[in-house]
Amino acid sequence: MAENHKFKRVLLKMSGEVLMGEQQFGLDPATVNRVAEDIKEAVESGVEVCVVVGAGNIFRGVSGAAQGMDRTTADYMGMLGIVINALALQNALESIEIQTRVMSAIPMSAICEPYIRRKAMRHMQKGRVVIFAAGTGNPYFTTDTAAALRASEMNCDAMLKGTKVDGVYNADPKKDKTATRYDRLSYMDVLTKDLKVMDATAISLARENSIPILVFSILEKGNFDKALKGEGPHTIVSD
Ligand code: GTP
Repeated sequence: MAENHKFKRVLLKMSGEVLMGEQQFGLDPATVNRVAEDIKEAVESGVEVCVVVGAGNIFRGVSGAAQGMDRTTADYMGMLGIVINALALQNALESIEIQTRVMSAIPMSAICEPYIRRKAMRHMQKGRVVIFAAGTGNPYFTTDTAAALRASEMNCDAMLKGTKVDGVYNADPKKDKTATRYDRLSYMDVLTKDLKVMDATAISLARENSIPILVFSILEKGNFDKALKGEGPHTIVSD
């Protein structure tokens, strides 16, 4: 690991929306490739990286349910959306010579490996980027919760949440010009102030396992590596 990196093994959580770039829907190949380059930079400096991605760019279970779909069916459709994003990211990473393994919480062996914790550990130790697909495999759980779960199982030193905003603010910075970014928050602050960093289940899991959550903007090139060094604008949630 490069000396100036604060963490040896991390989980990168990205929302599906990040992967659609400027589009309203789906995948923007240029953005997926850019994110892959950022991950490559971290991997080449010796950090072990695993990834959990959402599916809001393809299908959002909660919205499906709001429109009258059965919630469990809508959530399973969301999980399939994650598999699409995982394969896109795998393809982008392997095209720039980064070894990856996609592991799905819902077995679909013709497409990727099933999730087996000990095998995932071995892949990471060998420097492969493990992309966890299909969330937790269960309806009613968010991809944030899947990220906290996998980060705990993989003994990650931190969870990095790559979003479209460069941290957590006391108000919506897009709507309120006076909104200020928190540098540091406790898990309890996030829960009691309802700060929407991640849902309460994910925050509780991270807290129980003492995994810090670093929120940063993944929209600009190089920010992931900067965040790993504790540089650039971000908010850190820890004890
Ligand atoms: P090592 O244990 O380090 O050899 O890991 P490995 O992943 O290279 O070994 P393995 O022989 O298990 O896998 C070889 C290739 O097959 C890799 O690209 C895996 O992603 C892929 N693979 C392994 N299991 C499955 C599976 O159940 N489904 C699919 N689709 N691919 C798999």
